[in-house]
Amino acid sequence: MNHLLKLLDLSREEIIEILNLADQLKYETKNGIEHKVLEGKTLGMIFQKSSTRTRVSFETGMYQLGGQALFLSNRDLQIGRGEPVQDTARVLSRYLDGIMIRTFEQKEVEDLAEYGSIPIINGLTDFCHPCQVLADLMTIREHKGRLDGLKLCYIGDGNNMANSLIVGGLKVGMEVATACPDDYRPDKQVLEFAKEYGDKYTLTSDILAAVKDADVVYTDVWTSMGEEAETKKRKIAFAGYQVNDEVMAAAKPDAMVQHCLPAHREEEITAKVFEEHADEIFDEAENRLHAQKAVMVKLMGGK
Ligand code: CP
Ligand code: NVA
Repeated sequence: MNHLLKLLDLSREEIIEILNLADQLKYETKNGIEHKVLEGKTLGMIFQKSSTRTRVSFETGMYQLGGQALFLSNRDLQIGRGEPVQDTARVLSRYLDGIMIRTFEQKEVEDLAEYGSIPIINGLTDFCHPCQVLADLMTIREHKGRLDGLKLCYIGDGNNMANSLIVGGLKVGMEVATACPDDYRPDKQVLEFAKEYGDKYTLTSDILAAVKDADVVYTDVWTSMGEEAETKKRKIAFAGYQVNDEVMAAAKPDAMVQHCLPAHREEEITAKVFEEHADEIFDEAENRLHAQKAVMVKLMGGK
């Protein structure tokens, strides 16, 4: 594993190895055991979109690993004025030990990896959000004790989160059901991948059918970053695609709820369901730190 560009590139074993290392790093962090295995290393963090969790967890994680992180906003970088990503990749490779990038097009992340010579980590694109799903899988395994055989139901937009959850969930042996409006289905490449898994993956617009007997109920915003102009149209298209009491009643009685955050209460999730499952959701947010530290250790050296 040289980069983390998308979960499609990772094997089941590589995902499980990251989760195991993340558990170990979490244990060490909680018990005051230092692990400065990236001492002297620098991670560049390019942000072309906003972020709370990704920025703070990568920066803190790098610090805890003994290295440092540089926040690079597209408002300040020459990339924001049109310097090609191919040149940016080759320049930054001369200074840094790794790059985390959050941007729009997946191609930009793939180009960075192609033209640069250091590990590239995808911190969210329109296509996927692999770091988030590694943290989600870690959280689900922590709460349920396993991943294999669990049913994950995703309700809402067939967006970057849906794409990564389908791939990650299926790879680790989960059954994945997605309930999305017909015009907002997951990416074709992901649906093609899911075909290999036969009836372990289902796509429907029937929320109650998708959530039946689910162990994990997942949702995300109706309007992602970059789609703000469509907000009104999307509110109409997604009306009803909400995680609420009725939906939770169709899931298993001990079903957990996950949300990558930020959440829009009374849109994709009711405030009641959100607060009833807040511990699980904020464990998930915390685990971004541990899962990404594991990714950085794997990619940038150390143990
Ligand atoms: N879930 C997530 O990636 O959060 P941020 O947008 O705050 O980084
Ligand atoms: N789908 C959301 C996820 C945010 C973490 C977005 O892309 O804005």
